Amino acid sequence: MKILVTGGAGFIGANFVHYWLENNIGDKIVNLDALTYAGNLESLKDLTGNKDYEFVKGDICDEEFIDKLFKEQKFDLVVHFAAESHVDRSVLSSKDFVITNVEGTMNLLDAAKNNGNVRFHHVSTDEVFGSLGEKDKPFNEKTPYDPRSPYAASKASSDHLVRAYFHTHKLPITISNCSNNYGPYQFPEKLIPLFVTNLIEDKKIPVYGTGEAIRDWIHVDDHNRGVEMIIKKGVIGETYCLGGSSEKQNIEITERILKLMGKGSEMIEYVEDRKGHDLRYAIDFSKATTELGWSPVIDFDKGLEATAQWYKENQDWWKKIKSGEYKEYYKKQYQK
Ligand code: NAD
Ligand code: DAU
Repeated sequence: MKILVTGGAGFIGANFVHYWLENNIGDKIVNLDALTYAGNLESLKDLTGNKDYEFVKGDICDEEFIDKLFKEQKFDLVVHFAAESHVDRSVLSSKDFVITNVEGTMNLLDAAKNNGNVRFHHVSTDEVFGSLGEKDKPFNEKTPYDPRSPYAASKASSDHLVRAYFHTHKLPITISNCSNNYGPYQFPEKLIPLFVTNLIEDKKIPVYGTGEAIRDWIHVDDHNRGVEMIIKKGVIGETYCLGGSSEKQNIEITERILKLMGKGSEMIEYVEDRKGHDLRYAIDFSKATTELGWSPVIDFDKGLEATAQWYKENQDWWKKIKSGEYKEYYKKQYQK
């Protein structure tokens, strides 16, 4: 198979590229990424010279470029990760979120439709379902959409478009809505890598509000294995919820990270809460278990410990991000 992965220089996409090439020998991946602030080719350094992997720098919002790419490359499958992904940034400004997540997705859908109805998997989030109360039942595929941040609204909008192309144009799509990922190569603006790297640098860690918000954490490899199973066994037109069975309050995660890093609670700085902060996300993934045989297998404590260890052992990777130096890698490798 020849696969277009969008956003493969980001956190989940880079892990997916590694995962897929290791587990699907012979398949070819074209990684299309605009290298926004979140894209980092250093995460894929080890694939330099791999004949089954190609990097293409490009913007999913560039309609003509995208159509040409589909015509030239003749993909069998699109796995769409590219997005603006950070809620706090969407609170500051919505524009890039709407342009990339909605218009960019539409361009990809059009290119897939106009170039042979290419199989399309859309990677989405549990945030489209809104916020749960402490006693509410977890989200499932039938939960009504109720996005509450500009990020979540833009992802919800993209989900609706993807389903509309299935109903209107018979485009062979599937969608996954997954909970909070953690693991290697995550940009250190998100909770876990921010806290781990700050503590390595002996900096304080900013807990929003009282730290009472709850997220359901899943290791990125469990998520990507779920995406793989949906691609291989999922029913066309269907949506699958993926989750980690690991609901934790932010303060609990914070305490675990402090312990792993050998630091005390004096490193916590309670800061102003996120605007419109969703209280709780939780996922009922029984459809994926029943229909695909998928469930998460990575134990949260072990996964978190391995992840903290990865950031300890790969300080060069994240220190270059914090200093801005990571942007030089593309210039050196690709603009000789
Ligand atoms: P990320 O921010 O780490 O990576 C996004 C990637 O997309 C970057 O490499 C960036 O350069 C690229 N990109 C952005 N705009 C682009 C454009 N216009 N054209 C081409 N490339 C562009 O994000 P992530 O955390 O890896 O998330 C990947 C996907 O998974 C997103 O769609 C996100 O909504 C979804 N998701 C994320 C999580 C999570 O916990 N991180 C959970 C569920 C779903
Ligand atoms: O649920 C899936 C979503 O998870 C994905 O769709 C998003 O792309 C991804 O960014 C993530 O969104 P969250 O907002 O849940 O993740 P974040 O790591 O930004 O925050 C996790 C929780 O920690 C949230 O309740 C806010 C809180 N937080 C976050 C940061 C960055 C803090 O208390 N302090 C912080 O500095």
